[in-house]
Amino acid sequence: MTHNSEIMAHILGVGIATLDIINYLDQYPAEDSEVRASAQKISRGGNVSNSLAILRQLGEQCDWCGVLADDSGSQIIRQALARDEIALCHCQIESSGTTPTSYIILNRLNGSRTIVHYRDLPELSFNHFAQCDLTRYQWVHFEGRAIDQTVQMLQHLKQQQPQLPCSLEIEKPREGIEALFPYAELLLFSRHYAEASGHKSATSLLKAVQPLAPRAQLVCAWGGDGAYAIEPKGKVFHAPAFAQSHIIDSLGAGDTFNAGMIHNCLAGHSLAVALHNSNRLAGLKCSQQGYTGLAARYQQLDG
Ligand code: FRU
Repeated sequence: MTHNSEIMAHILGVGIATLDIINYLDQYPAEDSEVRASAQKISRGGNVSNSLAILRQLGEQCDWCGVLADDSGSQIIRQALARDEIALCHCQIESSGTTPTSYIILNRLNGSRTIVHYRDLPELSFNHFAQCDLTRYQWVHFEGRAIDQTVQMLQHLKQQQPQLPCSLEIEKPREGIEALFPYAELLLFSRHYAEASGHKSATSLLKAVQPLAPRAQLVCAWGGDGAYAIEPKGKVFHAPAFAQSHIIDSLGAGDTFNAGMIHNCLAGHSLAVALHNSNRLAGLKCSQQGYTGLAARYQQLDG
């Protein structure tokens, strides 16, 4: 299922790294109650850095470009990135803010994750990104955020390295985010984005978006209903979810799915196969706590 270790790709991920304070609760608390967590974990999170950690487990070489605060939280992030063998590429160090922190309730009953996120750190600037040597990479993955800066990064990438494929995660609706769509070869939409944009199904979103990105492969994961995709020629694909008897931890399932898509696209798999495999990876992730050993379980699936 993975490609040969000798032809692993070098991937640059551009987005956030956060401090995740995860409290494990036996059930979701009532408002204005006082409850005790049965366990707590403090770890590095953030969509792009989570995806890179999975890609690294799958054998890809991964660099991260993003913003770090100058505080103790960022030390935890640096150490975790180093442990996960993710290198830094021209990170922007900011003294004017604190490490973005997520306070997460992980409900052990159903694996749901409820995130309260606090952020006061400036966003990654185009100038920092522009210092990365793009000739080193076979793929670049972006988060759809800080639109005015990210659009310049995408334009720069397409001017400097027109053959270098890139993917873009569209997780949250943000003012003007459609301006990013035309630049990526692979667009990864969340169900949250689709619903917040007034769509009741993944295919409704994908068909509506296609005129804005006619040459891209468009993908939207829809939780228990699996994942949908549409190719440039307009053919729609669906792959059912990889159902698990126990959902233990859904934190980062979307980031894991995105990593699966990038990994499978790099391996040259068709959209249908990529969807199927990425659902399996994301399904497996939901059946375990955290990410440790995930790629090994995935690689064992087909023997
Ligand atoms: C999971 C996650 C967490 C992080 C939050 C940021 O998808 O990346 O690790 O705290 O989302 O929005």
